[in-house]
Amino acid sequence: MTALPENSVVAVIGSGAMGAGIAQVAAAAGYRVKLYDTRPEAVSKALLDIGKMYGKLAEKGRMTAQQAQDATARLQPAASLSDVADAALVVEAIVENLDVKRSVFAELEAVVSEDCILATNTSSISVTAIAAKLRHPERLVGMHFFNPVPLMALVEVISGLATSADVAATVYDTAQAWGKMPVHAKSTPGFIVNRVARPFYAEGWRLLSEQAGDAATIDAVLREAGGFRMGPFELMDLIGHDVNFSVTQSVFGAYFNDPRFTPSVLQQEMVNAGFLGRKSGRGFYHYGEGASAPVA
Ligand code: NAI
Repeated sequence: MTALPENSVVAVIGSGAMGAGIAQVAAAAGYRVKLYDTRPEAVSKALLDIGKMYGKLAEKGRMTAQQAQDATARLQPAASLSDVADAALVVEAIVENLDVKRSVFAELEAVVSEDCILATNTSSISVTAIAAKLRHPERLVGMHFFNPVPLMALVEVISGLATSADVAATVYDTAQAWGKMPVHAKSTPGFIVNRVARPFYAEGWRLLSEQAGDAATIDAVLREAGGFRMGPFELMDLIGHDVNFSVTQSVFGAYFNDPRFTPSVLQQEMVNAGFLGRKSGRGFYHYGEGASAPVA
């Protein structure tokens, strides 16, 4: 098996934090990228942000001005799902919800070619379950990137029960062609990284609710003394509390309510308040215009 050839069309469905990062990486690697989102303004923002990122990379000498220009030219918006009919690979990075993902893949299956690979960037939902309603479940695979996509090398390539070995191998090789470090994993709840990471966040929430320390103190302890790159609260602010809460609920449910994965009511409250982290300007910390002060 080999990677999909350069210049193949990669459709990225969902143009939020992850979709934008995936599009940036794929276009920089020579692939033609179509970006879709139910909110057209998310596509426009992603295209603008990616252009700025290429500009910065060119300034730093990490790509030439010509490469930045060429990569930008390989990106284009898709106004509807039918615009991605020529995709060789679709990477879905929409809301973390099984029913919504299933319905988007059902729509996609009706427009793409028979040999198009369908990949989901889900953090936690069963790849087997997402694929189950498709006419060709063997073509669906997990392609799980990490945030921020351009900086994080790891990609979990996740096989559900029906995923064909060829499809997983092509996605693995394609991730390598994009400069990533893929690993194969099976579709267990949370896969490898989120399975291990969930109790890290859960203990953070417990420490906070027991008033062992405030969020900034717990983060500092784990970062400075614990050797973690980020503490649990700053990391959840980066992920987005809405996304992170959905992932917690999904892993908790998938393990038949194993208490190790219990969501926190405080977590729910952050989502209720709209304190979603960096993307909303406020989570445990404030973001924008030089502010980074803890709120809890
Ligand atoms: P986000 O909230 O930044 O972006 C999601 C985008 O999907 C939004 O722009 C939204 O308008 C769009 N969308 C929602 N429903 C849609 C639909 N039916 N069709 C097309 N677009 C739709 O979320 P983020 O963080 O980019 O996460 C996306 C996916 O990636 C989720 O499955 C999440 O679990 C996964 N993921 C997230 C990571 C993170 O750190 N945030 C890390 C790895 C995976």
